[in-house]
Amino acid sequence: MDRYVVFGNPIGHSKSPLIHRLFAEQTGQALEYSASLAPLDDFTAFAKAFFQHGCGANVTVPFKEQAYRLADSLTARAQRAGAVNTLIKQADGSILGDNTDGAGLVRDLTVNHGVILKGKRILILGAGGAVRGALQPLLAEQPEVIVIANRTVEKAEQLAKEFSELGPVFPSGFDWLEEPVDIIINATSASLAGELPPILPSLIQPGETFCYDMMYSSEPTAFCRWATEHKAGYAVDGLGMLVEQAAEAFFQWRGVRPESAPVLAELRRSLAVKV
Ligand code: ATR
Repeated sequence: MDRYVVFGNPIGHSKSPLIHRLFAEQTGQALEYSASLAPLDDFTAFAKAFFQHGCGANVTVPFKEQAYRLADSLTARAQRAGAVNTLIKQADGSILGDNTDGAGLVRDLTVNHGVILKGKRILILGAGGAVRGALQPLLAEQPEVIVIANRTVEKAEQLAKEFSELGPVFPSGFDWLEEPVDIIINATSASLAGELPPILPSLIQPGETFCYDMMYSSEPTAFCRWATEHKAGYAVDGLGMLVEQAAEAFFQWRGVRPESAPVLAELRRSLAVKV
């Protein structure tokens, strides 16, 4: 049976085995997918040993940069992201590194939520690895502007500089922002601690602004609660992005695109019962 894994540390709470098992059932693909706790000090040897027999892997925290270095070749989007979340064994035995995170975000926004990004003013909160992975796919949708706001402004400046050749992208501090925008994407890890970046409610156009948190949890995240409280048009968490990045990885491995809606519904149910 073709073998796939997700590498991470920790990995116990990963949803990827459930998602890929459901994709395999739905598409009739015969494969095994399991969670793999990779050692913090020897990821490369561990992953290479798996690939003596394995066909593909997902990679999560904290190994995405190491997976980028391990890959024998890279897709253009992985190269831009500087990180790899999907490894694919090629026919010649070499390993291709891809990054499906940004494509998963854009697909969740545009297909699942019907958001048109073209011509929109997008504010991204945060300037870490998640933002680096999202910028090229977002800019490809031709927004009017993307502003990257970060606590450490230098990191926003660096990202804006790196991606400016792909479209209009500008750095900012949180406290420089006042005017309403069309879309706010929270990519800070603040949500994990139940915290919020210091942003003004005036960024929300009541009834209009689409607020998206890359994080998800069984309860509405701190950012989604903030968005709802200030009457945002929509407050959506990142569970759909998780499913869509997985669907894109599955497609790269198997050449079959699974339907994500029933899998997302199943995941949402499983989150709700595990509270
Ligand atoms: P990821 O890979 O998820 O993007 P990361 O690279 O560690 O994770 O980036 C985390 C992001 O969350 C950074 O933009 C970080 O801001 P700094 O660059 O200033 O550290 C941001 N962040 C984390 N906690 C935050 C908080 N409490 N308030 C605001 N921003 C926060």
